[in-house]
Amino acid sequence: MSSMGDKVKIEIFGESHSAAIGATICGLPAGEKIDIDELCAFMERRAPGRDATSTARKEPDRPEFLCGIVDGVLTGAPLTAIIHNSDQHSRDYSDLRVRPRPSHADYAASVRYGGANDIRGGGPFSGRLTAPLCIGGGIALQLLAKRGIYIGAHLASVAGVKDTAFDAVEIDKDTLLSAGKKPFPVLDGAAGEKMREAILSAKADGDSVGGVIECAVIGMPAGHGGPLFEGVEGKISSAMFAIPAVKGIEFGSGFACTEMLGSEHNDPFVYEGEKVVTTTNNSGGIQGGITNGMPIIFRVAMKPTPSILKEQNTVNLETKENTTLLIHGRHDPCVAARAVPAVEAAAALCILDLLEGNN
Ligand SMILES: Cc1cc2nc3c(=O)[nH]c(=O)nc-3n(C[C@H](O)[C@H](O)[C@H](O)COP(=O)(O)O)c2cc1C
Repeated sequence: MSSMGDKVKIEIFGESHSAAIGATICGLPAGEKIDIDELCAFMERRAPGRDATSTARKEPDRPEFLCGIVDGVLTGAPLTAIIHNSDQHSRDYSDLRVRPRPSHADYAASVRYGGANDIRGGGPFSGRLTAPLCIGGGIALQLLAKRGIYIGAHLASVAGVKDTAFDAVEIDKDTLLSAGKKPFPVLDGAAGEKMREAILSAKADGDSVGGVIECAVIGMPAGHGGPLFEGVEGKISSAMFAIPAVKGIEFGSGFACTEMLGSEHNDPFVYEGEKVVTTTNNSGGIQGGITNGMPIIFRVAMKPTPSILKEQNTVNLETKENTTLLIHGRHDPCVAARAVPAVEAAAALCILDLLEGNN
């Protein structure tokens, strides 16, 4: 299945080099006005070419709406939008069915689909499929903002260089959304420069680097989600793993909680006027799978781009011999920077689905 969501459901279709990619979103509220320029500006943040650290591929990401929206107003019918693929270099990938790229999906997908899968440009496993995710997510972000719920993310680290972290208890809207307004999505510009240097140095060496994206949701009311498979952590995690190259996620204090005492980790409750808040937020805004009204905060680990320009060991699936592979083509030396809006988009779709589910 290429779909996610219960009440607000997104289905993503297309392959990296098919005629088009796109998404159908069902369950969007009728009558809501969507700012298409704002949506396109959001899509631009994901497209390559904003910064020298991204791929040289050109991916003009302007969506064409086929149905579900008239003059910017949602009709309540399923909304389908497509993006035409226009900058494919299919010859770059012709050998990969025989000699699969280490740590890309070439080998696993060939086994899974008996060799019938479209391998060009990574087929449905390409980061390009985060563009339709951003169409649905960009719409969801606008609908959430009307309810006072805001989602923002930034590059928390790249190659070990760390950005300033969000304050888990008190995140103001301007700080939350500030990284998204910059060509390189960080809070601290000096840290961003060091990250860019690390990316460009890896690129010059034909290599790649990974990174961590931190995302927060503010304005989310308490009481959404549930135990077991209804848990908000599970739903957000499932959405995040739809983004290629995501290999881990942690909420609140995350894995660091294993090194804390209960007395350090517990988030004490206190009244702020009539509202119950916590003075720390190690829970990341979720307890028992249910939102507690504090900012939802999580970090996503992105691996280094698998397509590197160094010689690597692989196998020849025709001759059944060990061999080597030298990849050509245009690849992102660090996919984490371009994945920041995709993380916001996936989170927005989850949160909107949760809110509609509780209505
Ligand atoms: C925005 C974005 C851009 C990406 N660009 C590339 C790329 O240029 N080259 C590449 O090998 N992988 C790229 N990837 C990662 C691969 O799609 C991914 O590693 C691959 O499908 C294997 O899936 P997995 O890493 O989730 O196991 C990109 C991912 C994202 C999110």
